[in-house]
Amino acid sequence: MSVDLKSLVIAIDGPASSGKSTTARLIAQKLGLMYLDTGAMYRAVALKIYRTGIELTDKAALQKMLESTKVEQFCTDDGVHFSLDGDDVSEAIRTPDISLWVGPVSEHGMVREYLVEWQRAIGRNGGIVADGRDIGTVVFPAAQVKVYLNADAHVRALRRQKELFARGIAQSAEEVEEAIVKRDHRDSTREHSPLSKAADAVEIDTTHLTVGDQVEQVLALVRKLVPNLALR
Ligand code: DC
Repeated sequence: MSVDLKSLVIAIDGPASSGKSTTARLIAQKLGLMYLDTGAMYRAVALKIYRTGIELTDKAALQKMLESTKVEQFCTDDGVHFSLDGDDVSEAIRTPDISLWVGPVSEHGMVREYLVEWQRAIGRNGGIVADGRDIGTVVFPAAQVKVYLNADAHVRALRRQKELFARGIAQSAEEVEEAIVKRDHRDSTREHSPLSKAADAVEIDTTHLTVGDQVEQVLALVRKLVPNLALR
């Protein structure tokens, strides 16, 4: 089977800090495809709920809020950014508070329904690399390339700690690991679209891999489907 790059859908799932976003962003860049960070969408909605104080149990208010919320992803020279109702929230959605807050928000059936529909609309024509927890299982079950990235929890915690530190947030490795393990548990045991590996996904353990290795392993899967793959 050979696939046109323009219609290709690459789904990258896995637990927190397994290397999904970095890998997905680089693959998209190298192939000239759109990149979609679905975790950022959940984080942006969580930030809005955090700021507005809407109760998750208040279905009418939540519905109204979702319908009037605009989350956009845009690129500048320094990377991928996200706006919430016009404000750049790229930093605000990555704080430890929002990492906690996003748990119950991403478990909510109404929030998931809304965001999954939105994600499907964005990827309707293909030509997309999306990362998250349910991309290969729920959002794009027909994706031609499905990858499940995983890594040892301690290594993931060290990666997340480094990321937080670079943004001026100091947390101990133990604290970060505890939060990551809790979030993984929550993501994998929730009722709606729990984190799980799609039956046809290829699992890549990134514990001992460099980012370059990860990208190369995903590109090798794409090469099997797209002959004469030209990289940017
Ligand atoms: O990838 P991330 O850490 O930015 O994701 C933030 C949260 O959103 C994470 O706890 C799980 C949730 N999420 C989800 O439920 N489904 C997705 N497709 C992406 C993220």
